[in-house]
Amino acid sequence: MIICSCNVISDRDVHGASKPCGAPAERPADVFRGLGRSPKCGKCVRNIRAALDSRCCGEEHAAREPGMEACA
Ligand code: FES
Repeated sequence: MIICSCNVISDRDVHGASKPCGAPAERPADVFRGLGRSPKCGKCVRNIRAALDSRCCGEEHAAREPGMEACA
C-alpha cells in the first residue's frame, strides 16, 4: 500500500528502509534518506511512523511485545 503519495513510498518500502550504516530505519527521516527521497508535503509522516512501529524486528521485538511472534 502506498503511504507517501508524493514519493510513491509503500509500507513495504518503509519496512525495508535502512540507515546508511545498514541498521533498520527508526524515524521517517531515516526512511526518506534511506530510499534516496525527501519529504515534500509531510502528510505521510504519521503513517510512516505507524509502519515503522508495526515492523517486526525479529526475536527481540517478539520478546518485547506480548502476543507478538517473530517473522522469518
Ligand atoms: S505524502 Fe509523503 S511527502 Fe507528501
